Amino acid sequence: MKWPGGKRWLADTVAALFSKRDRYVEPFLGGGAVYFTLKPRTAILADINEDLIAAFTSVRDHPSAVIRRLSVLRINRETFRRYRGASPDTMLDRAVRLLYLNRTAFNGIYRVNAKGRFNVPFGCKKGTKVCDGENLRACSRALKGSTLTSADFRTVLREVRVSDAIYIDPPYTVKHDNNGFRRYNERIFSWNDQVDLARKLNFLAENGAEVVVSNACHKEVSGLYSRQDFAVVEIERASCVAGDAQHRGPCKELLLISRSIGRHADLDGIFKSSGVRARLVAGIR
Ligand SMILES: C[S@@+](CC[C@H](N)C(=O)[O-])C[C@H]1O[C@@H](n2cnc3c(N)ncnc32)[C@H](O)[C@@H]1O
Repeated sequence: MKWPGGKRWLADTVAALFSKRDRYVEPFLGGGAVYFTLKPRTAILADINEDLIAAFTSVRDHPSAVIRRLSVLRINRETFRRYRGASPDTMLDRAVRLLYLNRTAFNGIYRVNAKGRFNVPFGCKKGTKVCDGENLRACSRALKGSTLTSADFRTVLREVRVSDAIYIDPPYTVKHDNNGFRRYNERIFSWNDQVDLARKLNFLAENGAEVVVSNACHKEVSGLYSRQDFAVVEIERASCVAGDAQHRGPCKELLLISRSIGRHADLDGIFKSSGVRARLVAGIR
């Protein structure tokens, strides 16, 4: 699933960092690019977006029903408007709505505003398929060992053990910035959330959990993470997607990699072979 801030481009690299821990946890699931690359046997997957979790839960438990419902839907403005305006109650209806809108909206994404309303116009590419049955069945199989929850990250992190592997990909909120994209994020994920999140992750990393964090390339953000417990790596992405053309083009992001990973993984080798440009800025070796 294509998702704003999705990590398909980085998924192989992040997946290569983890050793085989018993359980994988991803509290900011979005489209789950890293999860579907790693395909761990047991996982806790969560996101604050209830419709997204309803979609993954229905795909996991009732793939045939999802496929049956999606495969009869046409791609046109009228159907799009009908689904965009709907507020379904059942898990299956919510799943069908999200998957339909995700496929048919402009740029093929599903995005909600601060009030939780879907806010992308119609506009998918020619040849788009609303229903890829084979892919949905593969996703269903990949999700079999996962627990899916719609919750705030704090609730999920309370359940985490220091023996877990954890991937964190929150909205990229920074403290001071007037860029519209970040102003939008600030309303859904505040600077206080960033601070709270880092505090919990510092504790988990210090106690041996394998933690990888994607975040905005900003000193204030990296400053929240303990230098004893995290390596700070700047990575470059070929092209950033932003609301306006001015913000497209190469851009930097941060990866924070916990000490427990630095001990077993050959970071230089992983970045070299994945083709992702990376520079160790600070922290453990
Ligand atoms: C950058 S996206 C994750 C993208 C994902 N890694 C992928 O590959 O598609 C961030 C996700 O965090 C979720 N989110 C925002 N605030 C949250 C919170 N307080 N607790 C849990 N999830 C949250 C959003 O709904 C969004 O799906």
